[in-house]
Amino acid sequence: MSEKTLAREGIMELVLYIPGESGDENMVKLSSNENALGCSPMAQEAMGKAVSSVNEYPNPTSIEIRKELAKLHGLDAAQIVVSNGCDHILSMVAQAFLDEGEEVVAASPTFAAYATNTLILGGKMVKVPLKEHTHDLEAMAAAITEKTRLVYICNPNNPTGTIVTQQQADAFMEKVPQDCIVVFDEAYFEFSEDSDCASGMKYLREGRNVLVTKTFSKLYGLAGERIGYAMGPVELVNILQRVALPFPVGRVAQAGALAALKDRVFVENTLKSNAEARAFFYESFDKMGITYCPAHGNFIFADLGYPAPEVFERLKQKGYIVRPGHGWGYDTWQRITFGTKEQNEGLMEAIKSVLEEF
Ligand SMILES: Cc1ncc(COP(=O)(O)O)c(C=O)c1O
Repeated sequence: MSEKTLAREGIMELVLYIPGESGDENMVKLSSNENALGCSPMAQEAMGKAVSSVNEYPNPTSIEIRKELAKLHGLDAAQIVVSNGCDHILSMVAQAFLDEGEEVVAASPTFAAYATNTLILGGKMVKVPLKEHTHDLEAMAAAITEKTRLVYICNPNNPTGTIVTQQQADAFMEKVPQDCIVVFDEAYFEFSEDSDCASGMKYLREGRNVLVTKTFSKLYGLAGERIGYAMGPVELVNILQRVALPFPVGRVAQAGALAALKDRVFVENTLKSNAEARAFFYESFDKMGITYCPAHGNFIFADLGYPAPEVFERLKQKGYIVRPGHGWGYDTWQRITFGTKEQNEGLMEAIKSVLEEF
Protein backbone atom coordinates (compact mmCIF):
# COMPACT_ATOMS: atom_id res chain seq x y z
CA MET A 1 0.00 0.00 0.00
CA SER A 2 1.40 3.43 -0.87
CA GLU A 3 2.01 6.07 1.80
CA LYS A 4 -0.65 8.14 0.08
CA THR A 5 -3.39 5.68 0.96
CA LEU A 6 -2.43 5.36 4.60
CA ALA A 7 -1.90 9.06 5.27
CA ARG A 8 -4.74 11.38 6.24
CA GLU A 9 -5.94 13.59 3.42
CA GLY A 10 -3.51 16.41 2.66
CA ILE A 11 -0.67 15.01 4.80
CA MET A 12 1.47 13.86 1.87
CA GLU A 13 1.25 17.35 0.36
CA LEU A 14 3.06 18.75 3.42
CA VAL A 15 6.64 19.73 2.76
CA LEU A 16 9.18 18.14 5.13
CA TYR A 17 10.74 20.70 7.47
CA ILE A 18 14.38 21.19 6.57
CA PRO A 19 16.29 22.64 9.53
CA GLY A 20 19.46 24.69 9.13
CA GLU A 21 22.38 22.39 8.23
CA SER A 22 24.62 21.32 11.12
CA GLY A 23 27.78 19.98 9.47
CA ASP A 24 30.43 18.51 11.79
CA GLU A 25 32.25 20.01 14.77
CA ASN A 26 34.83 21.62 12.48
CA MET A 27 32.21 23.77 10.83
CA VAL A 28 30.96 27.08 12.19
CA LYS A 29 27.18 26.74 12.27
CA LEU A 30 25.39 30.03 11.73
CA SER A 31 22.21 28.59 10.25
CA SER A 32 19.69 28.06 13.05
CA ASN A 33 19.70 31.27 15.09
CA GLU A 34 21.17 29.58 18.13
CA ASN A 35 22.92 31.47 20.94
CA ALA A 36 26.61 31.99 20.11
CA LEU A 37 27.53 32.15 23.81
CA GLY A 38 26.10 28.73 24.69
CA CYS A 39 23.84 28.83 27.74
CA SER A 40 24.01 30.15 31.29
CA PRO A 41 26.56 28.41 33.56
CA MET A 42 23.85 28.45 36.24
CA ALA A 43 21.54 26.59 33.86
CA GLN A 44 24.31 24.08 33.08
CA GLU A 45 24.83 23.38 36.76
CA ALA A 46 21.10 23.02 37.42
CA MET A 47 20.71 20.66 34.46
CA GLY A 48 23.63 18.56 35.66
CA LYS A 49 21.97 18.16 39.05
CA ALA A 50 18.57 17.38 37.53
CA VAL A 51 20.00 14.36 35.71
CA SER A 52 20.03 12.36 38.95
CA SER A 53 16.22 12.43 39.18
CA VAL A 54 15.23 11.68 35.60
CA ASN A 55 13.67 8.39 36.74
CA GLU A 56 10.77 10.52 38.02
CA TYR A 57 8.25 12.28 35.79
CA PRO A 58 8.64 16.05 35.67
CA ASN A 59 6.14 18.60 36.93
CA PRO A 60 3.34 18.38 34.31
CA THR A 61 2.82 22.12 33.80
CA SER A 62 6.31 23.46 34.61
CA ILE A 63 4.76 25.31 37.53
CA GLU A 64 7.99 26.79 38.93
CA ILE A 65 8.88 28.24 35.54
CA ARG A 66 5.38 29.62 35.09
CA LYS A 67 5.62 31.37 38.46
CA GLU A 68 8.98 32.88 37.51
CA LEU A 69 7.71 33.90 34.06
CA ALA A 70 4.63 35.43 35.69
CA LYS A 71 6.92 37.67 37.76
CA LEU A 72 9.04 38.54 34.71
CA HIS A 73 6.07 39.50 32.54
CA GLY A 74 3.76 40.88 35.23
CA LEU A 75 1.10 38.22 34.65
CA ASP A 76 -0.58 35.44 36.60
CA ALA A 77 0.87 31.93 36.25
CA ALA A 78 -2.59 30.86 35.00
CA GLN A 79 -1.98 33.00 31.91
CA ILE A 80 1.06 30.99 30.85
CA VAL A 81 1.44 27.59 29.23
CA VAL A 82 4.86 26.00 28.84
CA SER A 83 5.64 23.24 26.37
CA ASN A 84 8.21 21.35 24.33
CA GLY A 85 9.64 24.31 22.46
CA CYS A 86 7.73 27.16 20.90
CA ASP A 87 7.37 24.70 18.01
CA HIS A 88 5.03 22.58 20.09
CA ILE A 89 3.22 25.65 21.43
CA LEU A 90 2.45 26.61 17.80
CA SER A 91 1.18 23.11 17.11
CA MET A 92 -1.06 23.34 20.20
CA VAL A 93 -2.44 26.69 19.03
CA ALA A 94 -3.60 25.17 15.75
CA GLN A 95 -4.99 22.06 17.48
CA ALA A 96 -6.88 24.12 20.03
CA PHE A 97 -8.39 26.82 17.87
CA LEU A 98 -8.52 25.80 14.22
CA ASP A 99 -11.39 23.92 12.62
CA GLU A 100 -11.07 22.28 9.21
CA GLY A 101 -11.64 24.80 6.43
CA GLU A 102 -10.99 27.82 8.63
CA GLU A 103 -8.46 30.41 7.53
CA VAL A 104 -5.14 31.49 8.97
CA VAL A 105 -3.44 34.71 7.89
CA ALA A 106 0.34 35.11 8.04
CA ALA A 107 3.08 36.93 6.20
CA SER A 108 5.18 35.36 3.46
CA PRO A 109 7.94 34.52 4.00
CA THR A 110 7.79 33.99 7.73
CA PHE A 111 8.38 31.14 10.17
CA ALA A 112 7.26 27.96 8.40
CA ALA A 113 5.50 26.34 11.38
CA TYR A 114 2.40 28.55 11.08
CA ALA A 115 1.60 27.13 7.65
CA THR A 116 2.59 23.55 8.50
CA ASN A 117 0.33 23.40 11.56
CA THR A 118 -2.53 24.99 9.63
CA LEU A 119 -2.29 22.46 6.83
CA ILE A 120 -2.01 19.50 9.25
CA LEU A 121 -5.35 20.56 10.75
CA GLY A 122 -7.00 21.00 7.33
CA GLY A 123 -7.06 24.79 7.61
CA LYS A 124 -6.50 27.21 4.76
CA MET A 125 -3.33 29.27 4.77
CA VAL A 126 -3.68 32.83 3.52
CA LYS A 127 -0.19 34.16 2.81
CA VAL A 128 0.29 37.90 2.56
CA PRO A 129 3.58 38.91 0.87
CA LEU A 130 5.97 41.07 2.86
CA LYS A 131 6.22 44.70 1.79
CA GLU A 132 9.77 46.02 1.84
CA HIS A 133 10.76 42.80 3.65
CA THR A 134 8.32 43.63 6.49
CA HIS A 135 4.84 42.44 7.49
CA ASP A 136 2.26 44.33 5.43
CA LEU A 137 -0.25 44.76 8.24
CA GLU A 138 -2.71 46.71 6.11
CA ALA A 139 -2.87 43.90 3.56
CA MET A 140 -3.02 41.33 6.37
CA ALA A 141 -6.00 43.13 7.93
CA ALA A 142 -7.66 43.22 4.51
CA ALA A 143 -7.11 39.46 4.17
CA ILE A 144 -9.17 38.69 7.30
CA THR A 145 -12.60 37.23 6.51
CA GLU A 146 -15.36 35.78 8.69
CA LYS A 147 -13.56 32.45 8.28
CA THR A 148 -10.27 33.72 9.74
CA ARG A 149 -9.53 32.13 13.10
CA LEU A 150 -5.83 32.92 13.59
CA VAL A 151 -3.41 35.61 12.49
CA TYR A 152 0.34 35.25 13.06
CA ILE A 153 2.68 38.18 13.47
CA CYS A 154 6.31 37.13 13.79
CA ASN A 155 8.02 40.11 15.37
CA PRO A 156 10.93 40.36 14.65
CA ASN A 157 10.25 38.30 11.54
CA ASN A 158 12.15 35.15 10.69
CA PRO A 159 13.85 35.10 8.14
CA THR A 160 14.06 38.84 7.40
CA GLY A 161 14.70 40.16 10.94
CA THR A 162 12.41 43.15 10.30
CA ILE A 163 9.82 44.48 12.75
CA VAL A 164 6.43 46.10 12.84
CA THR A 165 6.09 49.05 15.18
CA GLN A 166 3.62 49.33 18.03
CA GLN A 167 1.76 52.09 16.15
CA GLN A 168 1.41 49.85 13.09
CA ALA A 169 0.22 47.01 15.31
CA ASP A 170 -2.27 49.34 17.07
CA ALA A 171 -3.83 50.29 13.73
CA PHE A 172 -3.95 46.60 12.75
CA MET A 173 -5.51 45.46 16.04
CA GLU A 174 -8.31 48.00 15.61
CA LYS A 175 -9.38 46.15 12.48
CA VAL A 176 -9.21 42.62 13.92
CA PRO A 177 -12.55 41.12 14.96
CA GLN A 178 -12.79 39.84 18.57
CA ASP A 179 -13.34 36.21 17.51
CA CYS A 180 -10.04 36.12 15.64
CA ILE A 181 -6.95 35.28 17.69
CA VAL A 182 -3.75 37.17 16.94
CA VAL A 183 -0.59 35.28 17.78
CA PHE A 184 2.48 37.44 18.30
CA ASP A 185 5.50 35.16 17.92
CA GLU A 186 8.16 37.03 19.88
CA ALA A 187 10.93 34.43 19.72
CA TYR A 188 13.45 37.20 18.96
CA PHE A 189 11.75 40.18 20.61
CA GLU A 190 14.39 40.81 23.30
CA PHE A 191 17.15 41.14 20.69
CA SER A 192 15.56 44.23 19.15
CA GLU A 193 16.94 47.45 20.53
CA ASP A 194 14.13 49.45 18.96
CA SER A 195 11.72 50.70 21.62
CA ASP A 196 9.08 50.86 18.85
CA CYS A 197 9.19 47.09 18.28
CA ALA A 198 5.58 45.96 18.72
CA SER A 199 4.73 43.49 21.43
CA GLY A 200 1.47 41.59 21.79
CA MET A 201 1.77 42.07 25.57
CA LYS A 202 0.07 45.44 25.24
CA TYR A 203 -3.07 43.87 23.77
CA LEU A 204 -2.95 41.00 26.25
CA ARG A 205 -3.12 43.56 29.07
CA GLU A 206 -6.03 45.26 27.30
CA GLY A 207 -7.94 41.97 27.42
CA ARG A 208 -7.76 41.22 23.70
CA ASN A 209 -7.73 37.71 22.25
CA VAL A 210 -4.02 37.55 21.68
CA LEU A 211 -1.34 34.99 22.43
CA VAL A 212 2.31 35.93 22.83
CA THR A 213 4.76 33.10 22.25
CA LYS A 214 8.37 33.01 23.37
CA THR A 215 11.19 30.50 23.53
CA PHE A 216 14.15 29.55 25.69
CA SER A 217 16.04 28.54 22.52
CA LYS A 218 17.45 31.93 21.53
CA LEU A 219 18.05 34.45 24.33
CA TYR A 220 18.66 31.73 26.91
CA GLY A 221 20.61 29.39 24.62
CA LEU A 222 18.58 26.27 25.46
CA ALA A 223 17.56 25.21 21.93
CA GLY A 224 18.69 21.65 22.61
CA GLU A 225 16.40 21.32 25.62
CA ARG A 226 13.18 22.23 23.78
CA ILE A 227 11.21 24.63 25.94
CA GLY A 228 8.97 27.53 24.98
CA TYR A 229 5.77 29.16 26.18
CA ALA A 230 2.64 31.09 25.34
CA MET A 231 0.97 33.85 27.32
CA GLY A 232 -2.64 34.86 26.91
CA PRO A 233 -5.97 35.51 28.59
CA VAL A 234 -6.85 32.71 31.08
CA GLU A 235 -9.73 31.56 28.85
CA LEU A 236 -7.40 30.97 25.90
CA VAL A 237 -4.72 29.37 28.06
CA ASN A 238 -7.32 26.99 29.53
CA ILE A 239 -8.27 25.94 26.00
CA LEU A 240 -4.60 25.42 25.12
CA GLN A 241 -4.19 23.23 28.24
CA ARG A 242 -6.79 20.82 26.79
CA VAL A 243 -4.40 19.83 24.03
CA ALA A 244 -1.28 19.81 26.21
CA LEU A 245 0.89 16.71 26.35
CA PRO A 246 0.83 15.01 29.79
CA PHE A 247 4.49 15.84 30.53
CA PRO A 248 5.69 18.12 27.72
CA VAL A 249 8.92 19.40 29.30
CA GLY A 250 11.52 17.09 30.82
CA ARG A 251 13.12 17.56 34.23
CA VAL A 252 16.47 18.63 32.81
CA ALA A 253 14.87 21.26 30.57
CA GLN A 254 12.73 22.59 33.42
CA ALA A 255 15.75 22.86 35.72
CA GLY A 256 17.79 24.59 33.01
CA ALA A 257 15.06 27.07 32.10
CA LEU A 258 14.36 27.96 35.73
CA ALA A 259 18.03 28.65 36.42
CA ALA A 260 18.39 30.52 33.11
CA LEU A 261 15.60 32.91 34.09
CA LYS A 262 17.55 33.84 37.22
CA ASP A 263 20.84 34.45 35.42
CA ARG A 264 20.48 38.03 34.25
CA VAL A 265 24.25 38.29 33.68
CA PHE A 266 24.12 35.69 30.91
CA VAL A 267 21.14 37.47 29.33
CA GLU A 268 22.95 40.82 29.43
CA ASN A 269 26.09 39.24 27.93
CA THR A 270 24.03 37.69 25.15
CA LEU A 271 22.38 40.99 24.31
CA LYS A 272 25.72 42.81 24.38
CA SER A 273 27.37 40.25 22.12
CA ASN A 274 24.38 40.41 19.78
CA ALA A 275 24.50 44.19 19.56
CA GLU A 276 28.24 44.07 18.80
CA ALA A 277 27.70 41.46 16.10
CA ARG A 278 24.93 43.54 14.55
CA ALA A 279 27.18 46.61 14.46
CA PHE A 280 30.00 44.57 12.93
CA PHE A 281 27.81 43.16 10.14
CA TYR A 282 26.23 46.55 9.41
CA GLU A 283 29.64 48.20 9.14
CA SER A 284 31.20 45.43 7.08
CA PHE A 285 28.25 45.13 4.68
CA ASP A 286 28.04 48.91 4.31
CA LYS A 287 31.70 49.01 3.29
CA MET A 288 31.11 46.23 0.78
CA GLY A 289 27.93 47.81 -0.63
CA ILE A 290 25.84 44.82 0.42
CA THR A 291 22.12 45.29 0.98
CA TYR A 292 20.64 43.87 4.18
CA CYS A 293 17.48 44.10 6.24
CA PRO A 294 17.52 45.85 9.62
CA ALA A 295 18.57 43.00 11.92
CA HIS A 296 16.30 43.02 14.96
CA GLY A 297 16.88 39.36 15.86
CA ASN A 298 20.08 37.38 16.48
CA PHE A 299 20.68 37.09 12.74
CA ILE A 300 20.99 39.23 9.62
CA PHE A 301 19.33 38.71 6.25
CA ALA A 302 21.56 39.98 3.46
CA ASP A 303 21.63 40.06 -0.32
CA LEU A 304 25.06 38.77 -1.29
CA GLY A 305 24.21 39.30 -4.94
CA TYR A 306 24.86 35.81 -6.36
CA PRO A 307 22.73 32.64 -6.50
CA ALA A 308 22.02 31.65 -2.90
CA PRO A 309 22.64 27.87 -3.22
CA GLU A 310 26.04 28.46 -4.81
CA VAL A 311 27.17 31.08 -2.30
CA PHE A 312 25.95 28.78 0.48
CA GLU A 313 28.02 25.86 -0.89
CA ARG A 314 31.15 27.95 -1.31
CA LEU A 315 30.87 29.35 2.22
CA LYS A 316 30.41 25.81 3.44
CA GLN A 317 33.62 24.77 1.72
CA LYS A 318 35.31 27.49 3.74
CA GLY A 319 33.86 26.10 6.97
CA TYR A 320 30.78 28.31 7.47
CA ILE A 321 27.18 27.14 7.34
CA VAL A 322 24.55 29.83 6.84
CA ARG A 323 20.96 29.60 5.57
CA PRO A 324 20.37 30.24 1.85
CA GLY A 325 17.34 32.37 1.05
CA HIS A 326 16.05 30.76 -2.17
CA GLY A 327 13.57 28.56 -0.27
CA TRP A 328 11.91 31.79 0.89
CA GLY A 329 11.92 33.27 -2.62
CA TYR A 330 15.00 35.40 -1.96
CA ASP A 331 17.26 33.95 -4.63
CA THR A 332 20.45 35.83 -3.82
CA TRP A 333 20.03 36.29 -0.05
CA GLN A 334 21.48 34.46 2.97
CA ARG A 335 20.26 34.42 6.57
CA ILE A 336 23.27 34.57 8.86
CA THR A 337 23.05 33.87 12.59
CA PHE A 338 25.28 36.11 14.66
CA GLY A 339 28.22 34.14 16.02
CA THR A 340 31.02 35.04 18.40
CA LYS A 341 33.32 37.93 17.43
CA GLU A 342 35.86 35.48 16.04
CA GLN A 343 33.23 33.54 14.06
CA ASN A 344 31.73 36.72 12.62
CA GLU A 345 35.13 38.01 11.53
CA GLY A 346 36.03 34.66 10.01
CA LEU A 347 32.73 34.49 8.14
CA MET A 348 33.20 38.01 6.80
CA GLU A 349 36.60 37.04 5.39
CA ALA A 350 34.99 33.97 3.82
CA ILE A 351 32.20 36.08 2.30
CA LYS A 352 34.72 38.52 0.83
CA SER A 353 36.73 35.75 -0.73
CA VAL A 354 33.63 33.95 -2.10
CA LEU A 355 32.34 37.17 -3.65
CA GLU A 356 35.72 37.79 -5.27
CA GLU A 357 35.59 34.31 -6.84
CA PHE A 358 32.37 35.14 -8.72
C1 LIG B 1 10.05 32.81 14.87
C2 LIG B 1 10.26 31.51 15.56
N1 LIG B 1 9.28 31.02 16.33
C3 LIG B 1 9.44 29.86 16.97
C4 LIG B 1 10.59 29.13 16.86
C5 LIG B 1 10.68 27.79 17.53
O1 LIG B 1 11.34 27.91 18.73
P1 LIG B 1 11.64 26.61 19.63
O2 LIG B 1 13.07 26.30 19.49
O3 LIG B 1 11.26 27.05 21.03
O4 LIG B 1 10.75 25.51 19.16
C6 LIG B 1 11.64 29.59 16.08
C7 LIG B 1 12.88 28.81 15.92
O5 LIG B 1 13.74 29.08 15.17
C8 LIG B 1 11.46 30.82 15.39
O6 LIG B 1 12.40 31.31 14.59
